Amino acid sequence: MDIQAVDHMFAMAVAASGEGRLDDAEAAFRAVLVMSPGHDEALFGLGLNLMIARRFPEAVEPLALAAQAPDAEPVRLQCLAHALFLTGAFTRAAETFAAAEAIEALPESPRLTWARAAAYAALDQSPAETALDLYARIAGPLAEDLGTVAREGFGVLVAFDRLDAARALGAWLEARDPDDKIRAHELRVLVDPSIDRAPPAYVEALFDDFAERFDRQLVEMLDYRAPALLADLIASRRARFERILDLGCGTGLAAPSLERFGAELTGVDLSSAMLAKAAERGGYDHLVQEEAVAFLERHPGGFDLIVAADVVIYFGDLVPLFTAAAKALAPGGLLAISTERGETGWSLLPTARYAHGDDYVQAASAPGFRIVERQEIPLRRETTAVTVGCLYLLERL
Ligand SMILES: C[S@@+](CC[C@H](N)C(=O)[O-])C[C@H]1O[C@@H](n2cnc3c(N)ncnc32)[C@H](O)[C@@H]1O
Repeated sequence: MDIQAVDHMFAMAVAASGEGRLDDAEAAFRAVLVMSPGHDEALFGLGLNLMIARRFPEAVEPLALAAQAPDAEPVRLQCLAHALFLTGAFTRAAETFAAAEAIEALPESPRLTWARAAAYAALDQSPAETALDLYARIAGPLAEDLGTVAREGFGVLVAFDRLDAARALGAWLEARDPDDKIRAHELRVLVDPSIDRAPPAYVEALFDDFAERFDRQLVEMLDYRAPALLADLIASRRARFERILDLGCGTGLAAPSLERFGAELTGVDLSSAMLAKAAERGGYDHLVQEEAVAFLERHPGGFDLIVAADVVIYFGDLVPLFTAAAKALAPGGLLAISTERGETGWSLLPTARYAHGDDYVQAASAPGFRIVERQEIPLRRETTAVTVGCLYLLERL
């Protein structure tokens, strides 16, 4: 082995990683490992690089090997534990945090992640009270409000498909606050997959609560781009419209992309907090707080384009929405929607959103529409994978 060449390649990898050139860094760390198999600093660097790239499952193996090196610093165990946590391996994560703590007391943030990992893991054998007690014991004086821990835990466990554990936390939350509409619906979803649409009171409460974080979470963290992609799809068919309806407009992410059509733009949404954000962003001639189907029914022939980005995910049965949209569109008008892609029919997901199959969109829209464009897109980058979405452009018959 040429030690100088290894050192040179390792220095290149560290520099590339520091400059955010993650692909170059990965290639260089891997090249070091080809020249010097088991090079523990390169294994650690590769693991960290994969963590930064959010490729958590791939980060686990190099971090585990780096942590096994003789005299490895405890931070390597902490990073491995964190990667395990982010892949949903809560028992292994808790054990690894405990091993790191045995070497050196954990700082604040890893200690709180350890406490969560241990609590989520404990839910497999213990009731929610016991798991949350364990959280409080590990977190010590740093412990956060248990309601917040349980609410976040509920979402994380659903995302990792640990539905029994999620149900246990959901029931604990419901007993603590029976008026919490968000939790009540999300818990009901886990026991009754036949619910055919999200209740308006749930949607309103959910998005009133979410409005402040929505843009940052969806655009920056989840890489959500459906409104712009829908607008491009529409523009491929037609350049101008007179009256556009942004149905379920949310914070108004679609407004800048719809501006090119030169139309009067109306936004409708159930959530006043989301509408307030849309008003701040600007671009709308009218903003209305109303349920989508009710609004459509009150405006026969009122629009020549209706856009619904990431909205039909709150409807299982789409027939009432398609029927009302057909009424609200002038003949030849366009309806542009995005869905979470499902296999067939419609299905209620543990996330309380709905997925729709092509066959279903086709059949449910057929009486009033013809599908003129269809495009699969990466809809959101979720905890474990990218959720695939589908854009449809439908022409009113
Ligand atoms: C995921 S957000 C998408 C917002 C926006 N269209 C975008 O792409 O950024 C879904 C929005 O649809 C609204 N919504 C869901 N169901 C609705 C309904 N039945 N009536 C009116 N608005 C609804 C929610 O309040 C929320 O603001």
